[in-house]
Amino acid sequence: MLQLAVLAADSDSGGDQREDRARRKLIADLLVASVRISWERGSPHVILTAMVSMETLVSLCKRRGFVFQSSEIYGGTGSCWDYGPLGVELKNKIKHVWWRDFVQRRPDMLGLDASILMHSSVWKASGHVDHFTDPMVDCRECRHRFRADQLAETPWVHYCPATKGNKFTIPAGEACTHCGATRTRCPDCGKGELTPPRQFNLMFKTFMGPVEEDAAVTYLRPETAQGIFVNFDNVLQSMRRKLPFGIGQIGKAFRNEITPGNFIFRTREFEQMEIEYFVNPHETVEGRPADEYWHDRWIEDCLAWFRRYGIQPDNLRLHEHARDELAHYAKRTADVQYRFPIGWSELMGIANRTDFDLKQHAKWSGKALTYFDEERKEHVVPYVIEPSAGVDRAFLAFLVDAYREEEVRGEKRVVLRFHPELAPVSVAVLPLLKKRDDIVRTAYAIRDELSRRITAVYDDTAAIGRLYRRQDEVGTPYCVTVDVQTVGDTDKGEPADGKVTIRDRDSMEQIRVDATRLGRVIDDLLGGAAWAQAAAGADRS
Ligand code: GAP
Repeated sequence: MLQLAVLAADSDSGGDQREDRARRKLIADLLVASVRISWERGSPHVILTAMVSMETLVSLCKRRGFVFQSSEIYGGTGSCWDYGPLGVELKNKIKHVWWRDFVQRRPDMLGLDASILMHSSVWKASGHVDHFTDPMVDCRECRHRFRADQLAETPWVHYCPATKGNKFTIPAGEACTHCGATRTRCPDCGKGELTPPRQFNLMFKTFMGPVEEDAAVTYLRPETAQGIFVNFDNVLQSMRRKLPFGIGQIGKAFRNEITPGNFIFRTREFEQMEIEYFVNPHETVEGRPADEYWHDRWIEDCLAWFRRYGIQPDNLRLHEHARDELAHYAKRTADVQYRFPIGWSELMGIANRTDFDLKQHAKWSGKALTYFDEERKEHVVPYVIEPSAGVDRAFLAFLVDAYREEEVRGEKRVVLRFHPELAPVSVAVLPLLKKRDDIVRTAYAIRDELSRRITAVYDDTAAIGRLYRRQDEVGTPYCVTVDVQTVGDTDKGEPADGKVTIRDRDSMEQIRVDATRLGRVIDDLLGGAAWAQAAAGADRS
């Protein structure tokens, strides 16, 4: 559903109130048929909060250097994407705060960085060689390939005999309204017969070493999790941990998805942020089995994490896997779903994998993967709770959630309201006049100083209004402007006041602070201080 908030103009914004009301009414009338409307007071601009389309995001991402299609000059690959200068900043910041919050700040967590290529037995033990498959059918005519279990969700081409063979594209799952036929043939060409379903393994196969023979076969890892399981004992022994404890890892994973798509939502190469949290299945916490208690705790922690970095609570929900949906190793799985432009879809999964993986690896490797419970004087195989998130999907969710189109003084403003800790650029330093050497020099010096700790850029390629809009569109929370007052004007005998202007992205308010205090004010703001607090001790401009 589309959502629209038409905000009332600020009483001192200078506009004609009657005209303003009429304009808001017009917008509301135009959209009333398709959107939910709420009127709110207290902001100087109109916010149109409609769900952004995937096309708009793809275009913004390319135009502003977030995401490019991989190998674009060769026609591109449909399933791989490259992160541009701003995209890599956003992605790195997502990974940084995840690692900081879930690994570094928790006394019960440790980190790991395992290799992508592993012993081929890992994938036999984990079940990926036998079970990591999708059923596929091929068209005997056009050779297109489809997932058998998704055919019912695919629109289909039909040459209708009741209309002299006219071609129609019929919505997924529906029958032809002319002849009543349902789909039996290829949905793409409408002519070819489909082969019976065959299982297709999603792992990318490769060869270790120079000889392409069976003995050298291995796979690009389809999940980072197995690198953690096979290192369980190494970490346990080297770090002397007591249960419960967890191991976190961030890294690339590869899946030869049959139907990749929807931009970076489903790709063949992606990154995961995974945790395997080991618990003693013989213990109870608050009267409940430890694995069940910790599963619920991790679900709460993961939801809270996304909310903390700005995801609107209404756009998150939990999906409990039904019995027939559960993976063969799982006792219970709950997905955190996000309201993507393609509808509610999985953002991350939180599974109780029981002792399946450790037992499998112990069986295949011949090495005991147990924990000695001093209290009970027994060896136990820990149960595992696995919060597993995709970096690329988190990137997409943060982008969708941050996107706003607003009307400011009759003009459209596109703004990404990223959480300040995630914004690709934290501060943009802008000179008001690029012809004044002293202004430019001061602006560069401020950027250099800020960039020792945070992502700061300098830009003088347009007039100030346009520079602000550009920074809004990439989500920069604060702009710092150096002007004539900052450096003074000797010709006019005006002394320098040494102050710079800080502009807040969301309210568009501006304050002037002493340049010597700038670093501290910016640190406070990025550290979570409210704008009103920073503005309290400063001059408003
Ligand atoms: N170790 C468990 C595991 O890999 P999964 O549900 O297959 O579970 C976990 O993957 C997360 O990885 C998903 O919730 C999603 O965020 C991300 N993910 C999985 N396949 C993906 C793909 N093809 N493209 C992008 N992200 C993907």
